[in-house]
Amino acid sequence: MNNLPTAAATLEDLSPAAVPHGQELPIDVQTSYDGSNVVYRMLRLETWGPALMNLGYYPFRWPFTTLNVLVNLEWAQRQLVMKSVDLLNIKPEHHVLDLACGRGKSSFIIHCLYPGATVVGLDLLNRNIAVANALFDHLPGLSYAAGDVTDLKFDDGSVDRILCLEAAFHFPDRAQFLREAYRVLRPGGRAVVVDFAWKTEAHRDTLDDPETRLVREVWQWDDFFSIADYEHAAVDAGFRIVSTHDWTSRVSTPIQAVFRCLSDLGNNSLGRRFLEWRNPLYRSISPTDWKALAESVVAHQYVRNNSNYMVFVLQKPE
Ligand SMILES: C[S@@+](CC[C@H](N)C(=O)[O-])C[C@H]1O[C@@H](n2cnc3c(N)ncnc32)[C@H](O)[C@@H]1O
Repeated sequence: MNNLPTAAATLEDLSPAAVPHGQELPIDVQTSYDGSNVVYRMLRLETWGPALMNLGYYPFRWPFTTLNVLVNLEWAQRQLVMKSVDLLNIKPEHHVLDLACGRGKSSFIIHCLYPGATVVGLDLLNRNIAVANALFDHLPGLSYAAGDVTDLKFDDGSVDRILCLEAAFHFPDRAQFLREAYRVLRPGGRAVVVDFAWKTEAHRDTLDDPETRLVREVWQWDDFFSIADYEHAAVDAGFRIVSTHDWTSRVSTPIQAVFRCLSDLGNNSLGRRFLEWRNPLYRSISPTDWKALAESVVAHQYVRNNSNYMVFVLQKPE
């Protein structure tokens, strides 16, 4: 992991001016998941952190997207895990790797759904693994380890199923991650990769636009794959593509509406009073933070317009 010199205190510190054009961003994944990041600080009040750290899968499509704010976000996050796990077709005796498992709850969900399977959750950040161990300790068949998905410490052909949910955008080398996934899977094994992807190669041209740079700083990523890049890299690694799914309308569109709704409330004194009544912990978000969040909503919408939320179901041939 590279080092980011200083953790930004608010999104104002993450303004595009702080990152000159033409310069690669120094990636420090940890700053996406700690209190230095105001987007994370807000998400933390809406369930992120103690366990799942994904955007969730929502029941209401446009034009009812803001209704999702009434939905329990943790429920939506669990839905996203279960929808993704469904595509893995896990059998009771399987060895399952949950790559970039965050703070371990997705691995725990797999363990609960398939108690006979052996599940290992792996994440880059030691502090995430420490939380996972503290939360989900003493369950036979479920364990956690720190590690980098681009350099897996597992034997060739030793794993039946791999889940990688909403994390590959961080990886500096997604092609290497796919090669590693292929290597550790047994013939006939399956991987489900859920990630953001540029809609087309042309959408990558927005990579250095100020809005995109802001979102790249918040979520610590250098570039996305396009959908075509994913398909090519998976095939180059040796995979057969079983199916691809576009979950944009169920994941990134509704969470964006939720984000906008919270930001609109927070940037209005009556709305802020309502939020603080609903959840007094919102008092920890300052007026400056709310201003930064409003800027971030616009930036996230910009990236949302250029990218899709994709699922790739990949099979290692027999
Ligand atoms: C958005 S979170 C998703 C976590 C989890 N999959 C979930 O659904 O709650 C992304 C995770 O990817 C992890 N990560 C980023 N780069 C990684 C790498 N190279 N190897 C392993 N984990 C990584 C981060 O530490 C973070 O926990």
